[in-house]
Amino acid sequence: MSSVLDRGEGDLPQLALVVGANGGIGHALRVRLLERYPSLQLVSISREQALPINDRDTPLAVDICADDDIKSLPERLKDYGAFDLCLIATGWLHDESMQPEKSFKQLSVEQMQRSFMINTIAPTLAIKALMPVLSKQAKIGVLSARVGSVSDNRLGGWHSYRASKSALNMLIKNYAIELSRAPKKKIIVGLQPGTTATPLSAPFQKNVAEGHLQTPQYTAAQLVEVMARLIPEDSGKLFDFLGEEFAP
Ligand SMILES: NC(=O)c1ccc[n+]([C@@H]2O[C@H](COP(=O)([O-])OP(=O)(O)OC[C@H]3O[C@@H](n4cnc5c(N)ncnc54)[C@H](OP(=O)(O)O)[C@@H]3O)[C@@H](O)[C@H]2O)c1
Repeated sequence: MSSVLDRGEGDLPQLALVVGANGGIGHALRVRLLERYPSLQLVSISREQALPINDRDTPLAVDICADDDIKSLPERLKDYGAFDLCLIATGWLHDESMQPEKSFKQLSVEQMQRSFMINTIAPTLAIKALMPVLSKQAKIGVLSARVGSVSDNRLGGWHSYRASKSALNMLIKNYAIELSRAPKKKIIVGLQPGTTATPLSAPFQKNVAEGHLQTPQYTAAQLVEVMARLIPEDSGKLFDFLGEEFAP
């Protein structure tokens, strides 16, 4: 299968934004971006302000599920310059009170609302708010999940998570169509990180075949390379951590 990793990389990013800075993958993305691009400036957004990785990293406390935080975001970011890379690494699958549903009999308003709020509504409204501070040809990568692909659903279950990621994928495609009408084109893609050892996957790691559980460092390094090689024709598509496109 062809991979975007077989291509040469595009322009180096100068100013990047990571949303979900305290997550397993989000934190690793920040470390990798600063390592990979020695002159990159980074702004790192999370609900609880993150610790800076180095003096090129500016952490800010922002809850992308809070309307007021989202509304004030462009104003808070406008003095940093135009962001040419934006990675949204937030997402929710379970917590102490809710586990992914094995059957439709477990579906609840609360779990569906939380899944759609964190996995679909918050990232897409964050992108809407960020538009004025993104450069004309900015690349936006949103962490999705292969289980959100209707065409790949053989096992069922995980109803709210799957459906919220499917809806996210639809909105990524819609954003891409609209953004493609501009003379200079921003690129937006969905990213499947692969099963990665983070709090989100912790309860399910025992089901992962030996050697297939990725470290956040590996996942982040792969995703940064994928983003580096995207071209406008990729916009609206879904790519995995090997740079291979997969169906929604
Ligand atoms: N790990 C995997 O195996 C795997 C596989 C497929 C897809 N993914 C996707 O990859 C992305 C990153 O996941 P991860 O593995 O790094 O998970 P994680 O370590 O649990 O991090 C979750 C992130 O989501 C944010 N978040 C969680 N609950 C939230 C809430 N109530 N309100 C607002 N933000 C909330 C956190 O934001 P703060 O930084 O603000 O705390 C954190 O950055 C997610 O979109 C996930 O669906 C992961």
